[in-house]
Amino acid sequence: MRPWSSRSPFHPAVLTHCVAVTLVLWVWGSPSLVAAERPAPDLGAGKDAYRQHCARCHGATGRGDGVDAKRFYPRPRDLALGVYKFRSTASGTPPTDENLFQTISQGLPGSNMPDWQHLDEGVRWQIVAYLRSLSPVFEKVQPAPVQLADDPGPARADHAKGKALYETLGCAACHGSAGRANGPSAGGLVDDWGMPIRPANLTQGWSYRGGHDPRSVMLRVLTGIDGAGMPSYAEALSPEEAWHLAYYVTSLQEPVHWNLVARAVRVDDSLPSAVDDPRWAEADRTDLQLDNVVNATGEWASPPTVNAASLEAVYNDEAIAFRFTWDDPTQDLHAPHDGFALLLKPVGSEGDVVTLQAWPSAGAPPLDVCYWSAERGTAWEAVATDFDSVTTPSVSTPPFLQSASGYQDGRWRMVVQRALHPNHPRGAAVVTTEAFTSIAVAVWDGGNPGSRAVSSWIDIALREP
Ligand code: HEC
Ligand code: HEC
Repeated sequence: MRPWSSRSPFHPAVLTHCVAVTLVLWVWGSPSLVAAERPAPDLGAGKDAYRQHCARCHGATGRGDGVDAKRFYPRPRDLALGVYKFRSTASGTPPTDENLFQTISQGLPGSNMPDWQHLDEGVRWQIVAYLRSLSPVFEKVQPAPVQLADDPGPARADHAKGKALYETLGCAACHGSAGRANGPSAGGLVDDWGMPIRPANLTQGWSYRGGHDPRSVMLRVLTGIDGAGMPSYAEALSPEEAWHLAYYVTSLQEPVHWNLVARAVRVDDSLPSAVDDPRWAEADRTDLQLDNVVNATGEWASPPTVNAASLEAVYNDEAIAFRFTWDDPTQDLHAPHDGFALLLKPVGSEGDVVTLQAWPSAGAPPLDVCYWSAERGTAWEAVATDFDSVTTPSVSTPPFLQSASGYQDGRWRMVVQRALHPNHPRGAAVVTTEAFTSIAVAVWDGGNPGSRAVSSWIDIALREP
């Protein structure tokens, strides 16, 4: 057959062909045909696919004890308990097959559970059948889908009603009044698998595992997050009210700016030195995702409490000022106290620090560290091969940097200023219009001692107006 392109697009044979293709696609996409494609369960095939793709995390027999399991928060699920978080079914009842199919297909964003879109749909259904065989709950208890109301849509969703429900139902006890995971009950929660767990930061839509659209949030509220200590509110609110609450929660999500290059804006006069200087609004915002550094045995010690930080930067002829913002559920001014570091790569150092997950380490090159301590309320700069020599400096007067900070409702904001070409410390990084400078951040939460959250490297570029 000749390729279509060699024919006139108006050739009758081409037109007939196109119509035929369209019809076939339409029939293929119709729900009945998709359903008919679901194969008869074949446990052997499901088990083989599970062993190949899932066992390294969920374990050979599904007990959540795969070789990689201890590195992740939350841990990969123990599937033998038959407790599932993300369902459209009443609390205490198992998920539907479609819920499981969706989890496998889409993964759980914001966790280490990948999506399996690339696996053949038939294989995904065989895995669903295999997961069901791991727990007797699927035989004993029928999934009970929760009752849903029609989506009122964003225009008719009642914000004030949603906010009032958020307060009266006690969501803030765990999630905090502004949704920053800093409610009075946020610490000390333990999940059904015996691991500590933290409430979600509802301002970070990207971190919702089960979807951050109003419908997904509505389902979380009505079904609860079984196993994670988040109750179901199906008895406490009507299906209509659940939508208003879900739209309100969605409105707490803040837009994200994942830039690989952060741009500093030039100003002619002095740099902003207060956290609420209105000129920060003219600077571009860049968000950085943070991951906790795992301990020496490759495990996480406690759930992460600081997941992200954002920055804005402004410069003039002499210096550059940064404003950093990060959510930390507790303000800790005494040891163990909160802390923050901006790291810059000095030019010309031997070797490279590819990731802060692996710094400090033996033989790794020094980094320029601008460290701010909540205890001292000041910041200083050092070129060092580890954090400890900077965070607990032996000299009583390190080269201080101009800084300011404020903590409000689960959120730190901190401004720090440094010279573009510092004379000291020796070997300090330079920031110029000619080249990009690599920067990254590290955050310590005194309320979560022993944990350090770090970002990847991004570049900072000076932008002429
Ligand atoms: C890289 C590690 C990793 C791999 C590989 C992996 N998972 Fe997961 N999985 C996780 C983690 C981590 C969680 C827990 C996430 C959470 O609790 O939010 C999870 C949770 C789940 C859940 C629970 C969902 C719920 O509603 O509670 C199911 C089901 C699941 N995984 C199925 C699978 C299947 C099937 C495969 C293979 C096709 C697979 N996973 C492969 C890490 C992994
Ligand atoms: C007892 C503490 C607690 C209360 C009260 C609570 N939650 Fe949660 N919530 C949690 C925990 C813990 C998680 C994280 C679960 C996880 O990581 O698997 C969570 C997660 C969430 C998520 C994210 C789901 C996802 O897809 O990742 C949403 C949305 C949410 N809660 C909304 C609410 C709303 C709305 C209320 C009030 C009606 C509420 N929560 C009340 C503990 C609570």
